[in-house]
Amino acid sequence: MADLSTTYLGLQLKNPIVASSSPLSKHVERARKLEEAGISAIVMYSLFEEQIIHESLELDHYLTQGTDTYPEALSYLPDTGSYSLAPDRYLEQVSALKKALKIPVIGSLNGVSKGGWTRYARRIQEAGADALELNLYYMVTDPELKSEDVESAQVDLVAEVKSAITIPLAVKLSPYITSLPNFASRLVQAGADGLVLFNRFYQPDFDLNELEIVHSLDLSTPIEIRLPLRWISILYGKVNADFALTSGVHTTKEVLKSMMAGAKVAMMASSFLQNGERAVAGLLNEMNWWMDTHEYESIKQMQGSMSQRAVREPAAFERANYMKVLSSWRDLP
Ligand SMILES: Cc1cc2nc3c(=O)[nH]c(=O)nc-3n(C[C@H](O)[C@H](O)[C@H](O)COP(=O)(O)O)c2cc1C
Repeated sequence: MADLSTTYLGLQLKNPIVASSSPLSKHVERARKLEEAGISAIVMYSLFEEQIIHESLELDHYLTQGTDTYPEALSYLPDTGSYSLAPDRYLEQVSALKKALKIPVIGSLNGVSKGGWTRYARRIQEAGADALELNLYYMVTDPELKSEDVESAQVDLVAEVKSAITIPLAVKLSPYITSLPNFASRLVQAGADGLVLFNRFYQPDFDLNELEIVHSLDLSTPIEIRLPLRWISILYGKVNADFALTSGVHTTKEVLKSMMAGAKVAMMASSFLQNGERAVAGLLNEMNWWMDTHEYESIKQMQGSMSQRAVREPAAFERANYMKVLSSWRDLP
């Protein structure tokens, strides 16, 4: 049997299959079933900056305003009633998962600005999390805002969060960055121990009859792996961080590809939400079988073997690939 073990953020993991941030971690029992099935770590659903700020605004509102005013900027948030308790509940859930599970539990904060809300990084650590994932989800809509300023603000945020904790920090980022290698190395200089590629953006749609914006959550398909696969391949060996690949990992093939690109772990959400823990045993068996058949002794031996610096054709990850792909189209006779 091949050695499936890997390390991620200094954590020793028995295999590279990690449950990505999702509602699965809201239920201790579901997380325990995933652990029993064989996953090596779990990332919790995110606690959002808005939830934390909302809690303090709400407190302020009751102390100073009376009940008929309400912070308008936050009115768009879902389910504001239950939001107010969210930060405390989140910390309780970190502790509950830690108590129930033997595998590492990675907390998740989701935010964009520096400020008091980042104190929750320390609280998540105190609640027992083994590491923290910081999700930098930001949509720039202001034409006056320069990319350099947006990126610097995010780098500063990473430094602020890092300075509040002693557990390892991973940063989950967007693919829509002009110079991703530069931004990734700035994040690492600011204290990121790991980079999670990528945030999956849910694009709003239009309902033509109702003339309304429609929000639909479509789960991923395996083809989506290609974007993070390409970028981890490019960044591997250039940026000194542990990489986690998320988006489109559904079968053994995607796990193996993630490793070959240079990821330390492959994170899965859609597949587990669709199929539950049933998929895990099959994935692990198939990985063992594939590695034995192809004479790989360990996952570590595989990691980075198809990265840009390792392959015979490094240009396959660059502009030349685009030209080659376009010219591969054959017109109908
Ligand atoms: C229902 C659902 C909830 C999610 N919630 C979070 C979240 O709270 N924080 C986060 O960083 N990512 C969240 N994600 C994104 C996943 O962690 C993952 O990065 C993304 O779904 C791509 O992986 P997949 O192809 O395996 O689904 C969520 C995904 C789904 C489907």
